Order: sequence, then structure tokens, then C-alpha cells
Amino acid sequence: MKVKKAVIPAAGLGTRMLPATKTVPKEMLPLVDKPAIQYIVEEAVAAGIEDILIVTNRSKSAMDDYFDYYPELEDRLNASQKERELAEIRRAADLANIFYVRQKETRGLGHAIWRAKHFVGDEPFAVLLGDDIMRAKTPVIGQLIQAAEKYQCSAVGVQQVPTEAISKYCSLKVEALEDNVFTVDDLVEKPRREEIFSNYAILGRYVLSPAIFDILEDLKPGVGGEIQLTDGLRQLCRQDRMVAVDFEGKRYDTGNVRGFLEASLDFSLDHPLTGQWLREYIRKKAKEL
Ligand code: G1P
Repeated sequence: MKVKKAVIPAAGLGTRMLPATKTVPKEMLPLVDKPAIQYIVEEAVAAGIEDILIVTNRSKSAMDDYFDYYPELEDRLNASQKERELAEIRRAADLANIFYVRQKETRGLGHAIWRAKHFVGDEPFAVLLGDDIMRAKTPVIGQLIQAAEKYQCSAVGVQQVPTEAISKYCSLKVEALEDNVFTVDDLVEKPRREEIFSNYAILGRYVLSPAIFDILEDLKPGVGGEIQLTDGLRQLCRQDRMVAVDFEGKRYDTGNVRGFLEASLDFSLDHPLTGQWLREYIRKKAKEL
């Protein structure tokens, strides 16, 4: 089993980032000097993914433009010997084979993934949620692919979240398998207090068997009136094996302002163009607070 395809659902309306996201897709907001979506694409590519489908909507064409060539701009950069900038914009356009499909209706994450059915065909595939940006030594989706290949089954990326926060995520019923890998027995989306199985929640990364598509096709709307991927996974883990990987790495929810700022700060501290300068600026600023 080789995982060569990934799906990035990026069709959300970005309501937690308004007013900025009224006309700019939230995935195009920059973290340091690259749009958020590029970090996700780079994570997939670093894990050996070659073909990527981005699920978009009618207000997101800036994303397709971004991963395309831009000859006029390239000529201008060439003429003015801006080699670094030229290399960077070319690199973004050559990262992977990127395909697009529109969700057409905002009907939930499960529905967005279902739109990938024809792209994926009959092979296991990775899912990377557009709002969940990772900072890790080994690409988080690569950690999941390893487990999925080892156990020949679907794998979801989890971490423990505080009890008071778990209703924003999902909650998993798990049994220990080895070190940081568990068998998934059940899961519930946006659990009420009495429904919490454990503090393990899925944080934006999945490797799924194509069997999920038949399940999603017939799925009734769940929490919030939306077709929930988690409800589909609940059925999938009953019919096939599924493992949860407590992954190494920090996850940022860049779909809200605070998470976005945290990611901006950490990524800027790591970045060769800004790290040193930002350290000095923070030290200076801290004295004023
Ligand atoms: C989605 C999933 C949820 C998951 C979360 C974080 O929720 O439905 O199961 O825990 O992403 O990755 P959303 O953030 O779209 O409400």
C-alpha cells in the first residue's frame, strides 16, 4: 500500500477570520512570506505525495492562480535580478501536480471529502485539513502514512486536548497498540460532556481507505446539519481496522485569529529572514509591557 494522493479540503467560508476573509481566501493569508496553504502542500510533498486535490469554492480562485506560472512577473523578476523571489514563486508552482474541484454547496467536511471520489479512485489517500498547520520534525502526514502502511489500514492523527476544549473537536475511544499508536473503536464529533470517550481528538490529518466514499455517499447530516467526516469514520472503523497515531509535532488552528498569530510568531522565529530580527524586537517590546 503506497499513499500517493492527498486531498486538502479548503472550501470553508472563513467566518472566524472576518473581515480579512471576505475577499481573500483564508488559506491565502501569509504566514511570514508564504500563504498558509503552501505549508500544507509542502507537508504532503515532504511525505512523498505526488498528486494533490484541493477542494475549493467559488471565492477561492486565488489559490489556483498561486500554484500556476506567472510569466509577466517572472520576466520582471528576471530582468531585475531578483533571483531569490523568482526561485520561490517558481518552486511554489512546481511543488506537485495540483488539481481542484469545487464543493459547490457548503455541506460539511464529509461532503467536501466525498467530492474527491473520482480523483482518488480505489487507493488509500491522505487528507490534510486546510486550517490545521503543523510544525514537526517528521511531516505529520508522513507519520500517519507509516502507521497506515505498517498496519495496512486507515490512520488518523490525534493528540490529547483539554476536556473543556474537546467539544470543538471529536473524541476517540481507543485501545493501546504500541507506543504512540492505538486502535480506534469508536469516535464522536463535537461531543457533549456525557459523550466524551477520551481526550484524544483528531487534529486535521487522516489516511483513509477509499471505502469511506461509499459510506459518505449515504451519510445523513450530523452535528450542525452538516455531513460530518467523523460520522463516516465511525462506520469505517466498525467495518475495517483503523489506528490513531499520537503524532509528534505542534498543531496550529490557523482558522482563527489567535491560532494564526501563534503560528505567525513561531514560524517567523524559525525563519532565516526574520528570526534574529524578531527575537530582538520581542525583547525590546517585552520591556515596554
Ligand atoms: C474538524 C473535524 C473534527 C476535528 C477538527 C480539527 O472540525 O470535524 O473532527 O477534530 O476539524 O482537525 P472543524 O474544525 O471543521 O469544526
